[in-house]
Amino acid sequence: MSQQPVLLPYADPAFVADPFPLYRQLREDGPVRRAVIAGGLDAWLVTRYEDGLAALSDPRLSSDVQDASDPRLIKQLPRFERESMMSNMLRSDPPDHTRLRRLVSKAFTARRVAGLRPRIQEITDRLLDAVVPAGRAELVADFALPLPVTVISELLGVPADDRHDFQRWTDAMLVRGERLPDPVVVDEAWQQMRGYLTKHLASKRDRPGDDLLSALINAHDEERRLSHDELIAMSFLLLVAGYVTTVNLIAGGIAALLANPDQLTLLRERPELLPDAIEEFLRYDGPVSPGIARFAREDVEIAGVTIPRGATVLVASAIADRDPARFPDPDRLDITRRDNGHLAFGHGIHYCLGAPLARLEGQIAVGTVLRRLPDLALAVPPAELSWRPGGLRGPARLPVTFASP
Ligand code: HEM
Repeated sequence: MSQQPVLLPYADPAFVADPFPLYRQLREDGPVRRAVIAGGLDAWLVTRYEDGLAALSDPRLSSDVQDASDPRLIKQLPRFERESMMSNMLRSDPPDHTRLRRLVSKAFTARRVAGLRPRIQEITDRLLDAVVPAGRAELVADFALPLPVTVISELLGVPADDRHDFQRWTDAMLVRGERLPDPVVVDEAWQQMRGYLTKHLASKRDRPGDDLLSALINAHDEERRLSHDELIAMSFLLLVAGYVTTVNLIAGGIAALLANPDQLTLLRERPELLPDAIEEFLRYDGPVSPGIARFAREDVEIAGVTIPRGATVLVASAIADRDPARFPDPDRLDITRRDNGHLAFGHGIHYCLGAPLARLEGQIAVGTVLRRLPDLALAVPPAELSWRPGGLRGPARLPVTFASP
């Protein structure tokens, strides 16, 4: 292909605030577009829905970074990603992936997750109780961040007293505020997190509970189905995968409603549309943006373009989810949209394990905010909202006002 790679300009605040004009141009340029993505890496972006769907279930495209030919990929990864992410299910292929996923999938059945509803509602209400009297809040720090971190820590069995440390380390590694991360700070946070997880796993081994970590320790100790490194990597993956993305779903969803007042009014009038609204937030501006990485195990042809062995393929779910060939009027937020098969949770064997939990948290969080915060409005002009740069997208801060009782 003759095209020069396009640089995704993460240093440009206008792109970070609204990447969709460039995303659209990339899709219109062709079904496969070379681009330099975060970290300076050259990737082949798959921009159309049908091709993206097929690519995510193509066994020639690996999730294991060791199948990449660009040695910078492994070298450039922060130490925590090298140590934590390499032996987890997200970054592995069958048969390891099959074994690892089977171990935790029982904990994430729709039924088990539905049982968490009362507790998620309680945490949501407690967080909102603290801000309601003031009539104003910063909905990321006050609400969208602490809600999922509390839920996932409880599921994993992390003691309540340790959650602030947990949140601090994770934020340093992944949440990132408005600037790109400082590698020294990231490595320090990972060292502390790793030390904590090792200690915490040892104490759980002595006193197992009815939580997910205890079940995983059992799989490691009794059944020899999980190595020590895999145990640490799995705990870490569940913690971060279940946290940062959900923050962005909640805060991004509320931001999308505030930017589309007709949809906000409609959702207040018809709260039964809430599940559809959550799917639409995921399609319209999903947390994983522009998309999901794979590595070509062999030369692979997609839409007539040959992608060479070892290349990084980015299935650009956020671009494909606005493909007009799949979604009518794709740039419009429409909470009544039917047949919303978005790619925000991926597709195929790696389809998001936590999707039922993320959906439930999103529905309770957004539904309760609308019910309890009347006259909700942005406290700053929409153009002044700040967004996080990089592959996990969402508002960095969401200052709002509302009527207090
Ligand atoms: C996988 C998105 C919430 C756990 C994925 C993938 C995506 C994704 C796109 C596929 C990655 C790939 O194919 O390489 C999201 C979004 C979320 C969310 C947008 C929130 C809105 C959660 C939650 C949890 C979770 C709450 C768990 C507690 C996982 C795990 C995987 C995964 C363990 C790896 C599955 C595998 O490799 O088989 N997620 N996720 N996610 N997600 Fe989520």
